[in-house]
Amino acid sequence: MVTRRRVLGTGLAATGVGLTGGSLLPVLHAAAQPAERPAAGPAAAAVPRFATAMPRVPVLKPDSTMGGVDLYTVTMRTASKEILPGLRTELRTFNGQFPGPTIKARRGRPVVVRQINSLDVDTSVHLHGGELPPEYDGAPMDTLAPGGRRLCVYPNTQAHASLWYHDHAHHLESENVYRGLHGSYLLTDEAEEALPLPKGEYDVVIGIRDAHFDTGTGQLVYQMGDRARNTLLVNGAPYPYFQVAARSYRLRLANHSNMRFVELRLADDGDMVQIGSDGGLLERPHTTKSVHLSSGERVDVVIDFSRYPVGTQIVLKNTGYGPVEEIGEVLRFDVVRTASDASSVPSVLRTLPRLPAPTAERAIVLRMDEDGRPDPQGYMDEKVYDPGRVDARVRFGASEIWTVTNANKLVPHNFHMHLVQFRVLERNGAAPGPAEQGLKDTVVLMPGDTVRLQATFDRYQGEYVYHCHMLDHSAMGMMATMKIV
Ligand code: C2O
Ligand code: CU
Ligand code: CU
Repeated sequence: MVTRRRVLGTGLAATGVGLTGGSLLPVLHAAAQPAERPAAGPAAAAVPRFATAMPRVPVLKPDSTMGGVDLYTVTMRTASKEILPGLRTELRTFNGQFPGPTIKARRGRPVVVRQINSLDVDTSVHLHGGELPPEYDGAPMDTLAPGGRRLCVYPNTQAHASLWYHDHAHHLESENVYRGLHGSYLLTDEAEEALPLPKGEYDVVIGIRDAHFDTGTGQLVYQMGDRARNTLLVNGAPYPYFQVAARSYRLRLANHSNMRFVELRLADDGDMVQIGSDGGLLERPHTTKSVHLSSGERVDVVIDFSRYPVGTQIVLKNTGYGPVEEIGEVLRFDVVRTASDASSVPSVLRTLPRLPAPTAERAIVLRMDEDGRPDPQGYMDEKVYDPGRVDARVRFGASEIWTVTNANKLVPHNFHMHLVQFRVLERNGAAPGPAEQGLKDTVVLMPGDTVRLQATFDRYQGEYVYHCHMLDHSAMGMMATMKIV
């Protein structure tokens, strides 16, 4: 029987409840049906909770900083690591690390990465959210063959943002990312540095992703559209604890999963102050009890742990998709000490440039087969991705409104554009909520949703892709090319 498993497999689908934008919860809970788990699925529920410390991902050291340029070497190679207790997992890594090392960059200071591919598969390292010339973007066809090496230049001309880098090789990206080729790239600038936000050890990346382990061998199982990726890893560790001081932290939440969406909240329903999204800080902080992240999205929050007495433990819950006994908890914050705190969250974080008058409009439709056929394909404007085709011609300097619709009834998607940080103008005819009012490069589209966004193409000319960032979907064809001329 293909039908139901297949449909669900292809996209975290719901059970057919009518969904409208903003009403994420029905799909989240509808998807949480134990009957949909394969009988032979791993006992993710048996992975010990809060047994290991959350790793802090090491920051990569440059080989050289001469001439105002930071030069790094990043080697793609296999490595094995103990992720589940007592078992070793083979991974595709950047520099043998899982997740890949964090690269810290500063606006106005270029980064050059010497890439070496020591894997036996092609790679193409893309800097997600980066404003880059096309030759350094990490396009699907711009692959580095096994044994190959090259230099990649990131000019870092855009404003601060919590970016990430990951593989993008055509038809391989989904598996490559799943097997470990992802890391953070934190770009800062003077405006961000001048703010009194938590810094240094109190500014922490929390990269969340899911995985499906063979519990016998500890190996990662990869199948397109797999719905049994029900072990959550945080900075590479399953369900860790994170020892914090009773003070404010800036937590850079990132969803590095191929397909999983998460909705995060503190177990006591405590407040989080969202200060940033994909493209850096919001104009104004906003207080919330939950954070929704589709695959590829980032949200920065400040949590003030001084409201908890030392000794308190607070679980960060995921009320998103999937069986709650497996993915309902993400990590546990353990408040273990006091600490002084001179940080604060200003009421104005930045001023975003005013949107120019739009010069063009276009409509984009995302859809994938959801009728249960054996090899579902994904479509952008009813076309499967063809790297040899230009799907959208954009005039250099244009500021365009794109109306993007998810035409599926069951399957959620999201929409990511290379090269630009865009602004969400409308979601289903209404103004976007506060979480979506900053600069975005990836935006969620639940079934039936329409989002209007505006992007300005005044930085580089050339070809770039846009796609659904559920990587299994983009690998199924839900990707297209725009050419800026
Ligand atoms: Cu994060 Cu085209 O990708
Ligand atoms: Cu990208
Ligand atoms: Cu999709």
